[in-house]
Amino acid sequence: MSDQTAETLANLLKEDRRFEPPAELAADANVKADAYAAARADREGFWAEQAERLSWDTRWDRVLDWDNPPFAKWYVGGKLNAAYNCVDRHVEAGRGDKVAIHWVGEPEDDTRDLTYAELKDEVSKAANALTDLGVGKGDRVAIYLPMIPEAVVTMLACARIGAPHTVVFGGFSADALASRLDDCQAKVVVTADGGYRRGTASALKPAVDEARTKTDVVEKVLVVRRTGQDLGENGWDDAVDVWWHDAVDGASSEHTPEAFDSEHPLYVMYTSGTTGKPKGILHTTGGYLTGAAYTHNAVFDLKPETDVYWCTADIGWVTGHSYIVYGPLANGVTQVLYEGTPDAPGPGRWWKIIQDYKVSLFYTAPTAIRSFMKQGNEIPDQYDMSSLRILGSVGEPINPEAYVWYRHVIGGDRTPVVDTWWQTETGAIMISPLPGVTAGKPGSAMTAIPGIEADVVDDEGHPVPNGSGGYLVVTSPWPSMLRTIWGDDDRYVDTYWSRFKKEGYYFAGDGAKKDDDGDIWVLGRVDDVMNVSGHRLSTTEIESALVSHPKVAEAAVVGATDPDTGQAVVAYVILRNEAGDGGPEIVKELSDHVRKEIGPIAKPRQIMIVPELPKTRSGKIMRRLLRDVAEGRSVGDTQTLADASIMDLISAGQATST
Ligand code: WT7
Repeated sequence: MSDQTAETLANLLKEDRRFEPPAELAADANVKADAYAAARADREGFWAEQAERLSWDTRWDRVLDWDNPPFAKWYVGGKLNAAYNCVDRHVEAGRGDKVAIHWVGEPEDDTRDLTYAELKDEVSKAANALTDLGVGKGDRVAIYLPMIPEAVVTMLACARIGAPHTVVFGGFSADALASRLDDCQAKVVVTADGGYRRGTASALKPAVDEARTKTDVVEKVLVVRRTGQDLGENGWDDAVDVWWHDAVDGASSEHTPEAFDSEHPLYVMYTSGTTGKPKGILHTTGGYLTGAAYTHNAVFDLKPETDVYWCTADIGWVTGHSYIVYGPLANGVTQVLYEGTPDAPGPGRWWKIIQDYKVSLFYTAPTAIRSFMKQGNEIPDQYDMSSLRILGSVGEPINPEAYVWYRHVIGGDRTPVVDTWWQTETGAIMISPLPGVTAGKPGSAMTAIPGIEADVVDDEGHPVPNGSGGYLVVTSPWPSMLRTIWGDDDRYVDTYWSRFKKEGYYFAGDGAKKDDDGDIWVLGRVDDVMNVSGHRLSTTEIESALVSHPKVAEAAVVGATDPDTGQAVVAYVILRNEAGDGGPEIVKELSDHVRKEIGPIAKPRQIMIVPELPKTRSGKIMRRLLRDVAEGRSVGDTQTLADASIMDLISAGQATST
């Protein structure tokens, strides 16, 4: 453990505030304390019971096939349709008039409500249109859309016809999009002319056009008209591009969903790993949907008849998949879907939405909470948020101050805060308080939820005693686990299952600590992955982007602690000899380059031009030292460094850079 982690930990463990569940909530909770033991006593029986939440065309004959670990099969022999489960069955049960989505566009008064019956029609039309465009069972469809209802509709339409979707976050660049399209060989891309961000129309379609110059896998591009903005010169290709309103609006709203095998691929979600190449995380149908529906019900104590739910994530991330689309819709909730940024047109926008729609369950990220906290209580205090019942947090550890502020200012001290730990790979929430059971500790995700078994282990895979730290592992398979990395079974085995092969544990890549009660405090990544505003970024991926610039010889990237974004990207760059000092604009030039290669989220907070990088004698970059510099600490132990004087040069350069 680094000195820095040890220090953070020491501070965290001084935290001794506890928040008991409100008595009323506890009395009526969906999941009670006995669930933990019941699940432990008969894990497969427990998961069979959870799968009963769904409607199956054919029941499974075996809950779990773990005969060939780490390749799991859940609900073997079962058949179902995910879109039918998220939409049709609610209509068939007489809830067609219930609002599924209160969509709130960024421009004020630009709103649209979709009932479950309307959603069923839209999904059916889109399923017919995609079929007409040549998409069949097993074909991949990429989705590059803003937060508009069509994003949800397209995901469900894909699920309905058995075409795995891959949603690419709209903030990713054309290059990042192209590499994902290529990796999963997407036949069709669904996009929009643009979307609204901070009051302006921001284009999307040109990035798809550019991506198509880098890969030729795409046959058709389906385009939603959202902003009406100009598509640019050569912005339309009649052979490829099709307007959504031409293809979908006129399509039939009759569509019979086919039942697919429980293990049929549902989607691929790309996420950063420790190498430059993003990993396509594969989720399948029955187990994933069971996990998403169960956890959404349990962790948010969902009362579908009365709750109004809102998750602020973007659909381009796994949180949007599990906790906007699949979990909530399988559970038949009414939810808010918001297109824009929290500060458009003014800083109170989110709180106004909570007030207007009487949101009762709210799920967001610590980075957002911290930015509101900075603005003070005055803004949220102007809104009536008494409808709120439970507040969720996800994406990175929530610091106790932010937790307490969230509970107090947003939740009026009535609402439990559920700090939910999970990953793209886990598909669903794994470690979290249960709002009707757990006395929450600010900063701790507490314990694995019923049905999940997690632990903290040392280098040898032995569970650490209470009061100690180690690696976070999941000790038995779970229904919503990833099945593999798309097209790369070996990387799947290596990345997640080889670190604790003997024990058969899933290695999450996070460090964690068990406190004296055995509750878990997740500390952050132990690999070369950064977490910036709850988004996962790979140091290697940004280094590769920098090195692809003609003036750059070498680059090293570290994640430095940042009060707003959790971590921030700090880059150290050695220029090529022929580039001289790079010119006056070099830092901006490199920063724009990263933005172009990956996207705005990967833009370094700081770029330092340095003469050398600290390396071990075997040539490995010592990121630990660079992190010391980036965080303004005196440089730690340089004993293994090949040339210790390099650190003096870098530390001295620190004052003049940025
Ligand atoms: C990584 C996964 C899960 C959806 C959003 C991110 C970090 C996530 C927490 C939490 C501490 C957390 C971990 C994890 N993380 N939630 N509640 N407490 N850390 O998904 O992009 O796959 O990132 O986010 O480091 O490994 P992701």
